[in-house]
Amino acid sequence: MEKRELIYEGKAKRLFTTDDADLLISEFKDDLTAFNGEKKSSEAGKGALNNKISTELFKLLADNGIQSHFIKMLDDNHMLHKRTNVILIEVIVRNIATGSLSKNLGIQDGTVLPFTLVEFDYKNDALGDPKLNDQHALILGLVKYQDELDKLRRMAREINDILKPYFATKGLNLVDFKLEFGKDSSGNIILIDEISPDNCRFWDMVSGEKMDKDRFRQGLGGLKMAYEEVLNRILNK
Ligand SMILES: Nc1ncnc2c1ncn2[C@@H]1O[C@H](COP(=O)(O)OP(=O)(O)O)[C@@H](O)[C@H]1O
Ligand SMILES: [Mg+2]
Repeated sequence: MEKRELIYEGKAKRLFTTDDADLLISEFKDDLTAFNGEKKSSEAGKGALNNKISTELFKLLADNGIQSHFIKMLDDNHMLHKRTNVILIEVIVRNIATGSLSKNLGIQDGTVLPFTLVEFDYKNDALGDPKLNDQHALILGLVKYQDELDKLRRMAREINDILKPYFATKGLNLVDFKLEFGKDSSGNIILIDEISPDNCRFWDMVSGEKMDKDRFRQGLGGLKMAYEEVLNRILNK
């Protein structure tokens, strides 16, 4: 399958059409951005690591009954996947308080939440991805019906119920993560985009070390080594 036309260039990926109207190719870039694009950098090899990590996680989720856009990894930086109409809601799943949740609500960093929190952000860079409640999402027409929002929440919890124990077997605490969903050509809501240390937080269960994009956000260094370590643990290397 060949890349045809560039249809979107985002912060972390480029999207291309293919000769099949239902399929797209994502090219994973080495670019890093944080704080809504204010902080920028690049790390050679980061895109390939995210492509490989996402590939493994989409396969794991498929084996556990979660439908996603994933078809196959084409090479180091390219993934073939279904084309969808993106739902402009970032679905955020949190097991442990950190980042904006700690900052906005004054919950101490590292607090284990009494239950898994699922939040919605409006995927809109110009507005800085603001928080949404269900009524906001319906007023904005991001989905048509309440039951679609319920489905996003249900799928997000199911995904957490698969990924959290899986990463525990790898010695990683799955602190929080961001998911995106889209509607495929039959109108089904499926998981899209990527699942990688760019949009998950992983803390080593023994050392507490951060193994994700917080290394870049917080200027800790060693980002590529951390992403490599996440991939190696997934591959049991
Ligand atoms: N299966 C899909 N169908 C259509 N669009 C998708 C699909 N998977 C991901 N996307 C979109 O492609 C873009 C991926 O590029 P990325 O660099 O992550 O963008 P962004 O800067 O918007 O986060 C995102 O806008 C994402 O919503
Ligand atoms: Mg993105």
